[in-house]
Amino acid sequence: MRIHVADHPLIAHKLTVLRDAGTDSPTFRLLTDELVTLLAYEATRDVRTEPVTVPTPVAEAAGVKLAAPKPLVVPILRAGLGMLEGMVRLLPTAEVGFLGMVRDEHTLKASTYAQRIPEDLSGRQCYVLDPMLATGGTLADSVRFLVERGADHITAVCLLAAPEGLRFLERELDSVGIPVTVVTAAVDDHLNEHGFIVPGLGDAGDRLYG
Ligand code: PRP
Repeated sequence: MRIHVADHPLIAHKLTVLRDAGTDSPTFRLLTDELVTLLAYEATRDVRTEPVTVPTPVAEAAGVKLAAPKPLVVPILRAGLGMLEGMVRLLPTAEVGFLGMVRDEHTLKASTYAQRIPEDLSGRQCYVLDPMLATGGTLADSVRFLVERGADHITAVCLLAAPEGLRFLERELDSVGIPVTVVTAAVDDHLNEHGFIVPGLGDAGDRLYG
């Protein structure tokens, strides 16, 4: 598994405002959207393209277009929904699938309550959107779900990650047999006893939609 921490002053600035407990919901949604577009730029570095030629007004120019089959973007409901527009702004032709997952407050185990994902993902690149990577359970289950359907390249885009969750994912996803990358704006200090990222930004789902 590859971990990419997007190191950029604009990302750091927007993340700082997101962390602030005084930031209201409308501002939080707007900043999440902007931050995701910046992260998406890093996350799509490996998006597959194929060569094309176009006629400029002067001559033929060699270029690229996105290769088929088109990428699949998968926001993890509910909080991942707040990241969808920011992502498809950069990948407007991507297909979108949905995974609804929730983490039990006491056991911290994730369970899937809804899914709308194509049955056959053979040869597809998938971009999973989830603001928080805490214990890593939600992301591990969603990656396994996509791999079982045939996805052959997965990139997770997260606003924040906990070191414990990244270590867990590295162990869990060692055997999935496809490249998995996590792109995040920051790796925080630790997880507390309630499974919250510290210092973190609180509960992203509640701050977006609560
Ligand atoms: C939060 C968050 C992630 C998950 C991360 O979702 O948005 O999906 O927890 O935790 P993990 O890494 O320990 O699995 P939550 O279950 O609160 O659902 P919500 O998005 O509907 O608020």
